[in-house]
Amino acid sequence: MKFLVVGGAGYIGSHMVKHLLLAGHQVVVADVMPAHSGVAWVNLDIADRPALDALFASHRFDAVFHFASFIQVGESVSDPGKYYQNNVAATLCLLQAMIQADVRQLVFSSTAAVYGDPQYVPIDEAHPKAPINPYGRSKWMVEQMLEDFDRAYGLRSVCLRYFNAAGADPDGMLGECHEPETHLIPLILQAASGRRPAVTVFGRDYSTLDGTCIRDYIHVNDLASAHALAIDYLQAGGASTAFNLGNGEGFSVEQVIAAARSVTGRSINVIEAGRRAGDPPSLVADASKARQILGWHTQYALLDDILGHAWKWEQQYPWR
Ligand SMILES: NC(=O)c1ccc[n+]([C@@H]2O[C@H](COP(=O)([O-])OP(=O)(O)OC[C@H]3O[C@@H](n4cnc5c(N)ncnc54)[C@H](O)[C@@H]3O)[C@@H](O)[C@H]2O)c1
Repeated sequence: MKFLVVGGAGYIGSHMVKHLLLAGHQVVVADVMPAHSGVAWVNLDIADRPALDALFASHRFDAVFHFASFIQVGESVSDPGKYYQNNVAATLCLLQAMIQADVRQLVFSSTAAVYGDPQYVPIDEAHPKAPINPYGRSKWMVEQMLEDFDRAYGLRSVCLRYFNAAGADPDGMLGECHEPETHLIPLILQAASGRRPAVTVFGRDYSTLDGTCIRDYIHVNDLASAHALAIDYLQAGGASTAFNLGNGEGFSVEQVIAAARSVTGRSINVIEAGRRAGDPPSLVADASKARQILGWHTQYALLDDILGHAWKWEQQYPWR
């Protein structure tokens, strides 16, 4: 099959591209950043409708994977316009170009942030959607737009609500690289490698086992395998829906730091800080729907695997 991967130069998208190429598919990446070498890449902003139309005119895509968005929660609070423009308006542009080109299958990167403060844990897909920041709201708006696009135009979609994407390709060629980095595991590993002096722990007075926040870390290659199953599901005629993607097991910040000390053999300095606004004590996925309907299973559920692969990547800094 032939796929368009928008945002395929980024962290999760690049792992997806590798997964699709290894499975024998044809892939074109559209991204404002260069894709990895050897990958067909078009320098394209998905807000650019004429460029999208030209791309769809020159390829017959079976489906689109949509990873292209801004992802920093804090920035979305200080500059919401930037997030609604790129994550919502630009996505609308992409969807309209897809309809015109008669490409009617989409896998969309959504997020656990659509749920807001959890009313119960583990969180299933029926949990109320009450995002507490513009980033989460932008993703929920797209999910609602997709429902309307299915009803009106027959564009079927799967929204995959990731919890905390983590880890790296086991061969060390791909990994996480956000600027600025805001995710816990790369920040811890940068403190281990000496790229930053310490990692900050925000709050030790939560109602959790050791007082630090609990999150559900899901290996990036397990995310990629779920996307591939989501396309199989759509190809088989599956109805539009959403799936949570997580391990179903939470680890506290303290547990992740302790595991990272063990995996890296390095001391990791910690700075203590107060709670951050909007950080719930615990976010853990109930991903049983993806297991049951997609037949998804995780290959790298162990925290040591996630950390080990991310550490291999971190040790190659600066990356090629
Ligand atoms: N990383 C996580 O833990 C996580 C969790 C939940 C959801 N997500 C979602 O997964 C997706 C990918 O996340 P990531 O961590 O790989 O982010 P990333 O920043 O590494 O990758 C996003 C890519 O999209 C590209 N992009 C952004 N706007 C674009 C536009 N208008 N046109 C073309 N390209 C554009 C960027 O250049 C980048 O290469 C995002 O949609 C994000 O919201 C990520």
